[in-house]
Amino acid sequence: MIKRWLQNIYEWFDQRYHITPLLEENVTKKMVPRTLSWASCFGGLALLIFLVQVFTGMLLLMYYKPHPQTAWDSVTFIQSNVPMGWLIQRTHAVGANLMIVLVFMHMARVAYYKIFRAPRELHWVSGVILALLTTTLAFTGYLLPWTQLSYWGAKVGTEIPGAVPVIGEQIVLWVRRGPNISGETLGFFFSLHIWILPAMISGFIAMHAVMIRRTGISRPL
Ligand code: HEM
Repeated sequence: MIKRWLQNIYEWFDQRYHITPLLEENVTKKMVPRTLSWASCFGGLALLIFLVQVFTGMLLLMYYKPHPQTAWDSVTFIQSNVPMGWLIQRTHAVGANLMIVLVFMHMARVAYYKIFRAPRELHWVSGVILALLTTTLAFTGYLLPWTQLSYWGAKVGTEIPGAVPVIGEQIVLWVRRGPNISGETLGFFFSLHIWILPAMISGFIAMHAVMIRRTGISRPL
């Protein structure tokens, strides 16, 4: 009964939007390599973890308050008072580390098999940008709970661009939004972490995916 009902809904959409040929071309009849090594799953897993991060991040945003006086309290509130809050918060924190590990394992596999050679140079270039954006995403997120560890982590991390000749000092001032790590830094990192960086990563993942579709994966189909 329900099956027929769902079938009718699918057919209604299929007649209008031609979903079946699209599914056949991209999923059910798509040519894929007969064998793939286990190392080929790292890119897909990095994508999966990114989606988990977006989802858990949206849930955390319902309670997180980005201000030096409230940030730490709001994270503690999520961990101890919000139903399943500890699980969402831990998943997001562990997911951040896992995503970085997976992105670099994916990069190592691509480097080892030299898949950056023609015609896949731009897969590599967009990948390097994704690796940098992912690292920055984790770095900006680390400050948000406003603990001693986050504070000193941000202080040391933001000192690094100071080594750039001539403009280093200006870059440090710009990244910190002032001479010290303060509420201004927290607000800036928050905006980078919750939408600017995720939006950029989504754009580059889309670019990465389109290019992979164009060249196909680097194995005989
Ligand atoms: C957020 C980060 C990333 C995501 C979500 C991602 C996702 C993917 C996926 C799903 C594939 C197809 C399956 C596979 O070969 O693993 C792929 C392929 C590829 N990626 Fe990434 N990737 C990311 C970062 C990178 C990085 C850091 C590099 C290198 C600097 C890179 C370079 C490549 C290349 C060259 C291919 C083609 C592999 C082939 O044809 O066999 N990607 N990526």
